[in-house]
Amino acid sequence: MVPAFERYRGIIPDYSAFLKTLELPPPTHVRVNTLRIEREKFRHAMADRGYRLTPVAGIPVSFRWEDPETPGGTLEYFRGWYQVQGLTSMLPVLILDPQPGERLLDLCAAPGGKATFLAQRTRNQALIVANDVSHRRIGILRSHSDRLGISSIVVTRYYGQSFPMRIAFDRVLVDPPCSAEGTYRVGARPPLTEDPEVSRRLQRLQRMLLMHALELLRPGGTLVYSTCTYAPEENEAVLQPAVEEGRAELVSICVPFPYSQGLERWNGQTFHPSLKRAARYYPHLIDSWGFFIACLRKPK
Ligand SMILES: C[S@@+](CC[C@H](N)C(=O)[O-])C[C@H]1O[C@@H](n2cnc3c(N)ncnc32)[C@H](O)[C@@H]1O
Repeated sequence: MVPAFERYRGIIPDYSAFLKTLELPPPTHVRVNTLRIEREKFRHAMADRGYRLTPVAGIPVSFRWEDPETPGGTLEYFRGWYQVQGLTSMLPVLILDPQPGERLLDLCAAPGGKATFLAQRTRNQALIVANDVSHRRIGILRSHSDRLGISSIVVTRYYGQSFPMRIAFDRVLVDPPCSAEGTYRVGARPPLTEDPEVSRRLQRLQRMLLMHALELLRPGGTLVYSTCTYAPEENEAVLQPAVEEGRAELVSICVPFPYSQGLERWNGQTFHPSLKRAARYYPHLIDSWGFFIACLRKPK
């Protein structure tokens, strides 16, 4: 059906269920913005206004949006009560586990779904540097940040691979450009990985971003690497040199959603055994977008 996905037949569990899920419309999720309103007040207020929302077990701030009205057009959205964000897109922030008072860097931050969640998790009490190279997308990030009442985000515009090294960060999120196969649904454009040159270019950039991000991280600090693609070339193969050279160690992921372990080999390449600790999220198992997430620690 989708030629680019055929090569994953051997690694995606229950591949036929995976293909069937791609034929279904993706669910929409929203994240209540607890900087503006408490979760329970939000739930009751939205129900009183007649919106249909279903709580997501495992992430108290997340709701599935079941309403016919588009979630980005309500008065409550403009009041900053919630952010529209895919369920799997919330997970990198939960896994990074940011704390108030810390220095956090989101190296590829726009349009800001994860950076604004970092601010929410740290109750506006961390320093969050939200960096991105795209002027247009940074504009969207700023408007989300203002609407959500965030005061802890500082926006910068550098190529992530040459972000200046003035301070060491406690935690870094690397959510680089990728082939976005995980967002593919029937009727969308074909996955970019059908063009091997695009894939190679993305991998080169992702490796540079990761290596530089590790230098920006303090010893003992935590880094989360995430993509919304299945391509091992953009996931395990990007992490492999850093892990092999001892610049980072994989940490196990503990969030209550089903995933497949990271791969140990692909297309003749063998990966470091600890890459098993990375998580591959598939839409038929979690009912959201496909995602890859790895949590790394920089040795002391
Ligand atoms: C997957 S998106 C990030 C999504 C974002 N983390 C969020 O949760 O909303 C990748 C981003 O990387 C940015 N980007 C592309 N090349 C970059 C580079 N060399 N340095 C920094 N950012 C880059 C793109 O502009 C894009 O906004």
